[in-house]
Amino acid sequence: MTEPGAPTLGPTTVTVDLGQRSYDILIGRGVIDRAGAEIAVRLPNARAAIVTDENVARLHLESLTASLAAADVEHVTVTVPPGEETKSLANLGKVIDALLAARVERADLVVAFGGGVVGDLAGFAAAVFRRGVRLVQVPTTLLAQVDAAVGGKTAVNTPRGKNLVGVFYQPSLVLSDSGILDSLVARIFNAGYAEVVKYGLIDDAKFFTWLEDNWRAIAAGWPEREEAIAVSCRSKARAVAADERDEGVRALLNFGHTFGHALEAATGYSDRLYHGEAVAIGMVLAHEFSALRGLSPAADTARLIAHLTEVGLPTRLADIAGERPSADVLMEHIAQDKKVTRGQLNLILTHGIGQAFVARDVPGADLEAFLAEKHAS
Ligand SMILES: NC(=O)c1ccc[n+]([C@@H]2O[C@H](COP(=O)([O-])OP(=O)(O)OC[C@H]3O[C@@H](n4cnc5c(N)ncnc54)[C@H](O)[C@@H]3O)[C@@H](O)[C@H]2O)c1
Ligand SMILES: [Zn+2]
Repeated sequence: MTEPGAPTLGPTTVTVDLGQRSYDILIGRGVIDRAGAEIAVRLPNARAAIVTDENVARLHLESLTASLAAADVEHVTVTVPPGEETKSLANLGKVIDALLAARVERADLVVAFGGGVVGDLAGFAAAVFRRGVRLVQVPTTLLAQVDAAVGGKTAVNTPRGKNLVGVFYQPSLVLSDSGILDSLVARIFNAGYAEVVKYGLIDDAKFFTWLEDNWRAIAAGWPEREEAIAVSCRSKARAVAADERDEGVRALLNFGHTFGHALEAATGYSDRLYHGEAVAIGMVLAHEFSALRGLSPAADTARLIAHLTEVGLPTRLADIAGERPSADVLMEHIAQDKKVTRGQLNLILTHGIGQAFVARDVPGADLEAFLAEKHAS
């Protein structure tokens, strides 16, 4: 980590090391204004097909198109409605049709300009359009900057579940303007912040401590925000480089997510609970369950709860609006998620802050008893 809080000149670059498919992530305030110049130099002579959503288009499209125009990068724009429902096969078809209508060619590129929804949909479109055109991710939510835009997972949902159809397809470049996050409402910013905390909890206790001291500055803006994004991207880049297709160590990136996914499913993927909020509660549950099994100090759980609460994130089942999800329902979703065999499951647990690990053969009955107790408390 560079000196936390140190002012930086120009963007910070993090490289995702994947041999010939390596790519840079540029992070900094005002990166959007350099998008045209960066694209013109790194991916010359391509036209840019921007895919964005209505909210991002209203607030920020002009900055992006002005930057492309200034660098003589020709561009067209495809706008989709905002929201998770947009990640559908029907919309994938619509985006592809719009790209064809705009005569986007094999040598051109797709620019995914938005949050994780646009990133996943436009990334998938880029992967399959004319058997694959280059992709530039320009993420505009904190969640997308620290997670979704890095690593090459793309997908759409089907009525049977989330992210069931998709491909691994790495971008050629990621441009993360930390200033663009100023227009996010606090709840969406915070949901992304939960994923930042996750990187500390997995294997970087010093980063967690730094977050405890600097979260207000991160919310307020540069340069601590840029630093938090860069540290998160480095952490994800390491995991992706080691395990591109998510078959091994990349699993740790799912810390808090088994519980989180179950909570999201139990609340119908609605705005009762955003993904990052579900992950926040899930990370607390992972700490609590680890402490209960004597694996992790209870003091670390308390520290995590204190930090998330201070930031304004939920930490308990009781923090979820509406009916509290029952242990039965949560176990059903966990069993589906984990394809449980013989009542034993693998879970990401922890030995304490910064020490997550994959625990094998956790008895499902113990987990259910724990969740029932949480439901009642
Ligand atoms: N591919 C991956 O590895 C990966 C990882 C994590 C999450 N995801 C996916 O990401 C999606 C969630 O992403 P998200 O949280 O970014 O949600 P999102 O894309 O729905 O964005 C949240 C909301 O913020 C708005 N918005 C975006 N940028 C804005 C800005 N700068 N100012 C104001 N409003 C803005 C959007 O229009 C939307 O209404 C999920 O579909 C999830 O499955 C993918
Ligand atoms: Zn997540």
